[in-house]
Amino acid sequence: MNNYDEVQQNYKKWHNIENKENYEKIKKSFLQNHLQQGITRVQIEPTNRCNFNCIMCPIDEIEPTKRKDLTFDEFRLILSKLPKSVKNICLSGLGEPFLNKNYIEMVKFAKEQGFYVEVYNNSSLFNKDILKYADEVNFSVDAIDQKTLTEIRKGVKPDKLFDTIIEAINNKLKCKININFTVNYKNYKDIKNIYQFCQISGVDHLSIQATSNNYFPKTEKYIEFKKFIEKNKLIDWEFIVKNYDKKYNFSLTIWYPRKLKGFCAWGFSNIYITSNLDIIQCCHQVTNPIIFGNLKKEEFNNIYNSEKMKSFRSKHIYDEDIFLCNNCPY
Ligand SMILES: C[S@@+](CC[C@H](N)C(=O)[O-])C[C@H]1O[C@@H](n2cnc3c(N)ncnc32)[C@H](O)[C@@H]1O
Ligand code: SF4
Ligand code: SF4
Repeated sequence: MNNYDEVQQNYKKWHNIENKENYEKIKKSFLQNHLQQGITRVQIEPTNRCNFNCIMCPIDEIEPTKRKDLTFDEFRLILSKLPKSVKNICLSGLGEPFLNKNYIEMVKFAKEQGFYVEVYNNSSLFNKDILKYADEVNFSVDAIDQKTLTEIRKGVKPDKLFDTIIEAINNKLKCKININFTVNYKNYKDIKNIYQFCQISGVDHLSIQATSNNYFPKTEKYIEFKKFIEKNKLIDWEFIVKNYDKKYNFSLTIWYPRKLKGFCAWGFSNIYITSNLDIIQCCHQVTNPIIFGNLKKEEFNNIYNSEKMKSFRSKHIYDEDIFLCNNCPY
């Protein structure tokens, strides 16, 4: 259950950059491996509306006219067009998925089609019926300290959030209950407390991920948010790694800001589909993304093998400039 050794090794591998000398070789083999697998994981956005306004999230950048819920027919169309290589569906994107009135039906349908189904949510509209169908339910928790939590996740009711997580743990059957912690300079000192919470409550898995600047590069918002990202240099990743205890009963993933770039599987084995059925490059640049095609009008394989998508992958392999990826921490 606990992956203490793996976490310690990964810290050396990805954060201390032990691999620098073999960088080119390792990167090419990483990307080729993902290319050979074909698309295995698809992130589908049930809605791009939200009832929160978290400080690190660019949700407000979506123009009111572009706000849309995925319909059940559109969802069925997407699943019918996916290649057989897809095993895993993440049914959450930018937005709060439970705002879509068909959300639980979609999760149920995806499960019936044989997919492994992950979901992310902000807890406010959680319905425990989802536990019957989803394989993983992730709750976003960015602090234990109530003041910090409400400052970051604008809209959250801390008591409700923690009660909902406990309720989910008490009512789960096979479903894993996970926490996603997006780390910044305001909350990194609360990591020890989130470890304690996961241990005591019986959470299955904790993911700690670096905050990225998800605004469109060079815009005013992007430049403003850069100051926030700069302050995140205070984050002591070693502190995070060292405080993960061998005795904990939950597993841990850390998504570091990588010092060696280019290990990104988006466009290779992962893709993102918006509530408008556009296939875009990833979950980090959703408000103004690179659009490879649209599943209402085209077949999946035509989009995946299009010159536009091939060129995107080639640029990743050969380290060529991709405007949207230049300042991404991954
Ligand atoms: C975009 S939300 C969508 C699902 C749901 N609304 C929620 O908050 O869980 C998914 C995850 O992205 C994280 N996130 C938001 N802005 C981010 C950023 N700038 N960098 C990294 N992660 C971010 C959130 O903390 C959340 O855990
Ligand atoms: S992180 Fe999730 S809950 Fe917060 S504003 Fe973004 S989409 Fe909404
Ligand atoms: S912005 Fe580019 S490098 Fe970053 S996660 Fe997305 S596709 Fe990968």
